[in-house]
Amino acid sequence: MNIAVIGAQWGDEGKGKVVDLLTPNVSIVARYQGGHNAGHTVRVGGAEFILHLLPSGILHPGVRCVIGNGVVIDPVALFSEIETLAAQGVEVGDRLLISDRAHVILPYHRDLEALSEARRGDQRIGTTSRGIGPTYEDKAGRRGIRVADLGDASEDGFLASAIRANVSARNEALGGPEADWRALHAEVRAAWRRLAGWVGDASVFLARAFEAGERVLLEGAQGTLLDIDHGTYPFVTSSNATVGGICTGLGIGPRAVGSVLGIAKAYTTRVGEGPLPTELHGAEGDLLRESGREYGASTGRPRRCGWYDAVAVRYAVRVNGLDALAVTKLDVLDGLDEIPLCTAYRHGEGLLTEFPASPAILAGCRPVYERLPGWSRPTAGVRRYGDLPPEARAYLARIEALSGVPVAIISTGSDRADTILVRGGLVDRWQAGRARPVSQPRPPAFNAGSS
Ligand code: IMP
Repeated sequence: MNIAVIGAQWGDEGKGKVVDLLTPNVSIVARYQGGHNAGHTVRVGGAEFILHLLPSGILHPGVRCVIGNGVVIDPVALFSEIETLAAQGVEVGDRLLISDRAHVILPYHRDLEALSEARRGDQRIGTTSRGIGPTYEDKAGRRGIRVADLGDASEDGFLASAIRANVSARNEALGGPEADWRALHAEVRAAWRRLAGWVGDASVFLARAFEAGERVLLEGAQGTLLDIDHGTYPFVTSSNATVGGICTGLGIGPRAVGSVLGIAKAYTTRVGEGPLPTELHGAEGDLLRESGREYGASTGRPRRCGWYDAVAVRYAVRVNGLDALAVTKLDVLDGLDEIPLCTAYRHGEGLLTEFPASPAILAGCRPVYERLPGWSRPTAGVRRYGDLPPEARAYLARIEALSGVPVAIISTGSDRADTILVRGGLVDRWQAGRARPVSQPRPPAFNAGSS
């Protein structure tokens, strides 16, 4: 009944648009990992919304959004996002629940990240500089500060002593002008006064929502190849963007996950450093970048572009147990004479058909291409499968055959309406299953069970 939306490549696959499309059929959208390193662009009737931390479901009135314990939260970034949305006419109001177990990003995390990237030199990750990695490091190092801790006002309590210890470690690591822990403590306390009304136990809330028959959309950020365990380590983000992150990042069991939809572009992009086997360095890469407007929604950085990599997507199908794919940005390939599609990697004398673990091996892989004919009639804005040129249908069929799962959604433009829902496919069946359960009892209040 629930549905998960997961990136099947290196992030930026168009998850925001797909989540936005599916949201009319759910009453809750829950994010389970990452932070404001994500940038989900949603275009509705000419208006453009860019979401970083808030689940994309927030654009739908009446839909409630959960930020799970697996997410890392920078309160300043959150408030700024809420204000930007309000200026665009979208009120968050009481539709947001922030897990009391989520970890908090503080200014020293950003400082430490800058230091770590500088020290890495040409081995830098090319992070988004949002403090994401150091916050997850503190979590694993058991010195992190969680949302629930922010309510502690005393100068000698847990919050104050954790801030003091972490600021002192930061000052020691960085040298130079010192950060003042008392000023930060005061800032954090002020942030808590603004946050408190949204904070609660997300696991309890979701369990009760499931009992009440509510349908939930589980929203991933980044993508499979950026996952800390299954991605192109060490050139990854610091959280589990893959399906396992849903259970740990929300406090729900595996049966609650439901169907798993993977999102893949009709080609490949990546931001930051690390191997990208199908990367195009010359005019072809520039063409994809310009026609696909491939610049980061969070950082504005140009994205590295390449042809569709079926080895990588097949890997994502396996690691996540994907039920189907949504293929986005098909229209960006309009007008090409032929379209190369990577079916395997050549490494030295060998042929690899499974995604390798070692970044050195991956960096030495050369793509093996199959070349499919392009299409002269544009797919841009096409909204019915039957209206796609036969060559575009053949391209999609090849993606299906190589990934081993059906394509359920095809996106042919940035607007919500420029979308083909494959008849009888996973999403079509899921949507027909049941619309938003308006007659069901309301789910519990957000703060039920919070400490
Ligand atoms: P971090 O998540 O800021 O630590 O960055 C680690 C790596 O993940 C870098 O290569 C980033 O460019 C990449 N990354 C993080 N978030 C996103 C995203 O939302 N889309 C695409 N790449 C991302």
